[in-house]
Amino acid sequence: MAHIIVSGNEKGGSGKTTSAIHLIISLLKLGFKVASVDLDYRQQSLTTYINNRKKFITSEGISLTLPEHYVLEKSKEQNLQQAELEEGTNFSELISKIQNQNDFIIIDTPGSDTFLSRLAHSYSDAVMTPINDSFIDVDLLGKIEVNDLEKIKPGIYSAMVWEQKLKKAARENKQMDWIIMRNRGSSTDNINKRNIEKAIDKLSKKFGFRIVPGFSERVIFRELFLHGLTLNDAGSTNKVRFNTSIVAARHELRAFIKALGLPNVNLDSKL
Ligand SMILES: Nc1ncnc2c1ncn2[C@@H]1O[C@H](COP(=O)(O)OP(=O)(O)O)[C@@H](O)[C@H]1O
Ligand SMILES: [Mg+2]
Repeated sequence: MAHIIVSGNEKGGSGKTTSAIHLIISLLKLGFKVASVDLDYRQQSLTTYINNRKKFITSEGISLTLPEHYVLEKSKEQNLQQAELEEGTNFSELISKIQNQNDFIIIDTPGSDTFLSRLAHSYSDAVMTPINDSFIDVDLLGKIEVNDLEKIKPGIYSAMVWEQKLKKAARENKQMDWIIMRNRGSSTDNINKRNIEKAIDKLSKKFGFRIVPGFSERVIFRELFLHGLTLNDAGSTNKVRFNTSIVAARHELRAFIKALGLPNVNLDSKL
């Protein structure tokens, strides 16, 4: 049975798609069978990323790893209940079709609350949530009193994840591992960074998530998309050349994958 990982956060631009594609290509490089599912039917950034990669493979005549990719469309049904029924059936049929032939299923979700995103969270063995070092991002996890970090109420995203965690437990009698990844961090120490760290630490105890190291802010992430490339592809094409920034970024990627603690994933020189 495939291990299902959802990249989720009800906020656009936090790094869900970037983390998802890096996880997908890393797992493929480690020799696993990986399926990817795009539930962000408006933006479809993951789908475009993978299509860019396919075009790059053809135009350069090189071979790069590709996942088995699926996109789930929004139902055209006007009646909301009917629409959800149709979307739910399509989703569960897809998962049962692909879960026996793959080691991992990585699901990318939109930065908003949709029926399919909620459903996918309830199916996930792990949810990875990239957040940026800003109290706007922290607010989705928990409402914190400015003068008293001890006073915390759940934020909208925490409440949603909690609800889906309970649904998963009821359906499959299995736990969901919730992982927060700090993305686009600055490499220098500053007061904001330390305050965010303190706040997230409090929230993690209250809402039961783990915090793993993420990626620093690097221009390279914005450039890779056009050719559908990832940090893992350095060396396979001269479009991503090894330099000190790439080496440091790949180090962060390995640390991130290691900290996810996925089943049967032992990092070796292949990444
Ligand atoms: N660590 C990073 N450094 C620099 N840019 C980043 C980083 N992570 C993501 N980005 C850029 O930020 C934007 C949003 O990232 P994306 O993965 O599309 O977020 P989401 O899927 O959550 O909306 C993209 O332009 C992406 O290239
Ligand atoms: Mg996205």
